[in-house]
Amino acid sequence: MEKQRKTIIEPFRIKVVEPLPRTSRADREKHLEAAGNNLFLVKARHVTFDFLTDSGTTAMSAAQWGAMMVADEVYAGSTSFERFENKIKQIMGYQFVLPTHQGRAAEKLLFTSILKKGDLVPSNNHFDTTRANIEYQGAEAVDLVIDEGKDPQLIHPFKGNIDLNKLEKFCQEYRGRIPCGMLTITNNTGGGQPVSLENIRGASEIFKKHKIPFILDVCRFAENSYFIKEREKGMANTSVREIAKMTFELADGCMMSAKKDGMVNIGGFIALKNSDWLDKLRSLLILTEGFPTYGGLAARDLEALAVGLDEALDEDYLAYRVAVSRYMAAGLNEVGIPTLQPAGGHAVYIDAKALLPHIPQDQFPGQSLVCELYLSEGIRACEIGSVMFGKNDHGRFVPSQMELVRMAFPRRVYTQSHFDYILEGMADLVKRKHTLKGYKFSYEPPFLKHFTARFSPVI
Ligand code: F0G
Repeated sequence: MEKQRKTIIEPFRIKVVEPLPRTSRADREKHLEAAGNNLFLVKARHVTFDFLTDSGTTAMSAAQWGAMMVADEVYAGSTSFERFENKIKQIMGYQFVLPTHQGRAAEKLLFTSILKKGDLVPSNNHFDTTRANIEYQGAEAVDLVIDEGKDPQLIHPFKGNIDLNKLEKFCQEYRGRIPCGMLTITNNTGGGQPVSLENIRGASEIFKKHKIPFILDVCRFAENSYFIKEREKGMANTSVREIAKMTFELADGCMMSAKKDGMVNIGGFIALKNSDWLDKLRSLLILTEGFPTYGGLAARDLEALAVGLDEALDEDYLAYRVAVSRYMAAGLNEVGIPTLQPAGGHAVYIDAKALLPHIPQDQFPGQSLVCELYLSEGIRACEIGSVMFGKNDHGRFVPSQMELVRMAFPRRVYTQSHFDYILEGMADLVKRKHTLKGYKFSYEPPFLKHFTARFSPVI
């Protein structure tokens, strides 16, 4: 065995490159003003480090691009579908596979098929689109994450765990109204935090006892499996691939946005152990996505995904992957920028309320930080605070519980020197933090405000 070194290297060589957009602070001031101080409205070619999301932003491998060239682009029964289906059966052990164009399409199909008004769906934390698709059916998405998962500074190895006592009570009380139970791995809403195998097993037993089908949201399952290997007692000698298999075995099926650990730019699927829901799902799939052997995707997308799922389970890749957010969190903490602890798998969440205590929540400390990150570093990050979740209750402002700024890292896109360069700039940003100003809405849309709102600084 080679001796373990401190420095973790990118486990790839680079075959194709594209220029990194570089701008001056003066340019960025103009671009930000033109975008109404909303980073969603800034053009990508004016962003140097795009950390808006890790979804659909992966750099694909030579093997994936190669597989795309031999794709079988037919309407029905494509060989590419066979490869895709076999790969999912092999990795996950589920027999019935329905491709969709992305994660939320899988959610729409499943929830339209099985939910009705007044139903309840418990999970650790539902992701926004999952919640929205549940609510669209008149049902309720219920979050039962452990209390430790709600405290940003608390260190706990599995902050994504569901509270099993609350889940048991919930199932006893509402059993007849729960068409399925869920877990999101890793828990994106809670900060990219993992769920332990023990906790997945506990949830599985509760759902089984109450005869409630158990569906996993697995868009970051490889990262979750890696955290289990690293942190869960007795798992260090089990391969990530085996841990993933054990995870899937505990549930009745899964939904996946393949834009994350599928290592592709578009794609998703539903995979199930048994065929109870299959006919209904298939009919809806044909109605809205396409024939069941392509679901809204080109055959080349299915090929890239079949290769990508294996690449995501490579342990060298995963060691590097989780090291990125860990390295960035440690670097930020060192210069005095508090982040949600411990670092998640795919992202770092800066605690803007703690960093900028002089900016009240109704002046959006997260938005202020997002703007400054762009102005000083050319970074595009995402506010997850009162802009996104704040409410107006008859003229009274109700802030979000936390004011976070997420920097989500695209897979295999940025290198160590990019991250070091950013950390160097962050040390200066911290020195200027008292000069940062709050923001107010200059245009406030009625829903999903963060996408299209415009802001002006509070003078
Ligand atoms: N579930 C989770 C846990 C997610 O993080 C996402 C997307 C989805 C479902 C929906 O998948 O985008 O393919 O329709 N998360 C992205 C993000 C958008 O930036 O975290 P989708």
